[in-house]
Amino acid sequence: MKERSSILTLVLALLLLIAPVVFANGGGEADDGTITVGFAQIKEDSPWRTTETNSVQQEAEKLGIELKLSVTDQAGQVAALRDFIAQGVDGILLAPQTANGWDEVLQEAKDAGIPVVLLDRGLDSPEDLWVSQISSDFAFEGREAGKWVVERLNENGKVVELFGDPAADPAILRSQGFMEIINQYPNIEVVESRTGEWSQDKGRQVVEAWLTAGVEFDLIYAHNDGMALGAIEALKAAGKDPGDDVLIISIDAIKAAFESIARGDLNATVECSPVLGPMGFDALLKAINGEEVPQYIITPDSLYDESNYTEHPTGGF
Ligand code: AHR
Repeated sequence: MKERSSILTLVLALLLLIAPVVFANGGGEADDGTITVGFAQIKEDSPWRTTETNSVQQEAEKLGIELKLSVTDQAGQVAALRDFIAQGVDGILLAPQTANGWDEVLQEAKDAGIPVVLLDRGLDSPEDLWVSQISSDFAFEGREAGKWVVERLNENGKVVELFGDPAADPAILRSQGFMEIINQYPNIEVVESRTGEWSQDKGRQVVEAWLTAGVEFDLIYAHNDGMALGAIEALKAAGKDPGDDVLIISIDAIKAAFESIARGDLNATVECSPVLGPMGFDALLKAINGEEVPQYIITPDSLYDESNYTEHPTGGF
């Protein structure tokens, strides 16, 4: 009997010892004060997105933040957010693949008291469901591209548009901004507009299809550099001289785009910075600490072409 009660006392003592550890780790902040952040990144095979992921990872490491990284499509991103919420992270960084479909899960994050900062794209959910959007001004990028096109075509010519994902904020706004300018010039006509899904391979396939169908065009406007590089492959395979027979302008300013400008293939690219880690964590940590954060933090972008591409501070992203 005496032996049984001393075993019971030992078990009770053990339980008392481990209870604080088990219950305290229900929240994101660990006992040692480490902040935990979930990052829901878009699954996209492009140097631009790799640079963005690296930027977030490097900044997390620098700040001693525990980063939970998920790289998936839209449905996977919603699931990842739910997973982050269940794990009780302190904050969430989200690069939303599409503009729609976020209300419910963002409300769940808000109800759990977890701030969400949007990286590189916007979405259609009410502004009280997310703290801040850190991105380029996509309509501005489209307008910059449009102005360059008007000048280079001398206000006259046929344009084809390689669209990004039609459900994604940057593609929609880059097209709107571009058309805002182009519509002022009746002799410039956009003869085709099709999605290349942000992908080099798809961009190549779409331009191949246009060439095979006999579509005539003087200029390609691509919503990102990847699709423009694919377009250049298609033009070369068809015996055309990209940058000369057909002018090409795109968006992003990745290193490969600058190399292409140097070769005389691509003519111009409008910058869209993927180096968003430092700004992303700055906003998120402020929100975690209950400080005010601007709803929109816009990165400044410039256009680079043959005349100034060597002036980019990092030679591209
Ligand atoms: O949201 C930013 C855009 O997304 C980049 O221009 C593009 O390369 C990516 O797909």
